[in-house]
Amino acid sequence: MNSEELMKKDKEFFVQGYTRVPIVLTEGKGAVLTDINGKEYIDCFAGIAVSNVGHAHERLVQAATTQMKKLIHTSGRFFTIPQTLLVEKLAEITPTGLRHTYLCNSGTEAVENAVKLVKKYAYSRGKPGGALIALECSFHGRLGYSLCLTGQSKYKKGFDTYANAPGIVHAPVPYSYRSKLDEDEFGIECALAIEKTIDRHTAGDVAAFIMEPILGEGGIIVPPDSYFETLTKILKERDIPFILDEVQSGFGRTGKFFAGEYWNLNPDLMTMAKGMGGGMPIAAVIATSKIANSVVSGDFFSTYGGNPVCSAVSLENINILHDENLIQNSANIGKVFFDSLLDLQKKHSLIGEVRGKGLMIGIELVTDLDTKKPAPEQTKKVVNKLQSEGVIIGLGGIYGNVLRLQPPLCLSEDQAITVLEKLDEGLRNV
Ligand SMILES: Cc1ncc(COP(=O)(O)O)c(C=O)c1O
Repeated sequence: MNSEELMKKDKEFFVQGYTRVPIVLTEGKGAVLTDINGKEYIDCFAGIAVSNVGHAHERLVQAATTQMKKLIHTSGRFFTIPQTLLVEKLAEITPTGLRHTYLCNSGTEAVENAVKLVKKYAYSRGKPGGALIALECSFHGRLGYSLCLTGQSKYKKGFDTYANAPGIVHAPVPYSYRSKLDEDEFGIECALAIEKTIDRHTAGDVAAFIMEPILGEGGIIVPPDSYFETLTKILKERDIPFILDEVQSGFGRTGKFFAGEYWNLNPDLMTMAKGMGGGMPIAAVIATSKIANSVVSGDFFSTYGGNPVCSAVSLENINILHDENLIQNSANIGKVFFDSLLDLQKKHSLIGEVRGKGLMIGIELVTDLDTKKPAPEQTKKVVNKLQSEGVIIGLGGIYGNVLRLQPPLCLSEDQAITVLEKLDEGLRNV
């Protein structure tokens, strides 16, 4: 079957809710993908920040096949060795105080289960009606509460109250690019706005505040340092549980194991997925004892969550990140990108801002540097041009005008330089 026939079949049988790239991928190795016609691409998106250790890593293949030969599935009714070792490991690598993990299958599920945990915790404290506060421009998933928490209307159209449940409110996003204030001032202002959101839009009881440390789908938005200082003070004073959504930013993506480490964040719950399984469907929410202990037997269960194969792969994935120094490589190659992108910014007036940490980089394109008018059409053209030149990059942002560089963390400097050359050419073309 050739790619045209395959895509035609897909149109006939797949629910057409995806925006897909017209490429049929057949193989991947390290940071290189190959399509059905044998064309190779440097992968600068890693299956949306997932394949952090690289495609088809031998040790992941080995971990999966070894476990599959022993035991593929048990359901959550039984103990298994990989699952217990994994939750022990997660307590070791996450911030102090986070201790009890619930394993599931996707980022959406991790967020849903975080909500269930804080709701149960609120109930156990005699405050069952607690509101949930999220950020405008955020992304937390496309189902149920995770969709309601997502702060972007483009994901909500046509879904009525399914996408807008009562008790969920959104606070201003610390997205400083179009602010007239100095960055620090703006960060403080946005954090203080959370108090206004609580006082004006809720009955006062808040079950939790959730945010991504770096907003991924929203356009790789990095909040100013001042935001986190004020935010953590407010949450502490008001005794509001803090859910840090590290689904996209975790597992070395930003040059630290978790992005929250840049600001010494100590959340009460943390969600993770994507880079956690190196491509296998596994996700988690980890919580403090105080919160996790509000759960009683029967409150939670998953047939597949934390299945032995995914758990074994996830454990090996963590080992590889350390053994191959991939978190440091993320910081190093991130710097190569950053320095060169700042040079490119001087050449191309389309580049409004370059931002991010490690290998979670966003390039916001605008038609005019003064008005900062978003340039979504040009952004799409650059993505397509790069694709035709053998480089896959991501596209995002609330205006659809942010190029996203989120490659496997094993990307080499030579590969990064090729990507930069193609990007330079792509921007010149557009
Ligand atoms: C921060 C964040 N949370 C949650 C999700 C949802 O994850 P999934 O697509 O695995 O359900 C995503 C996905 O992009 C995300 O970036």
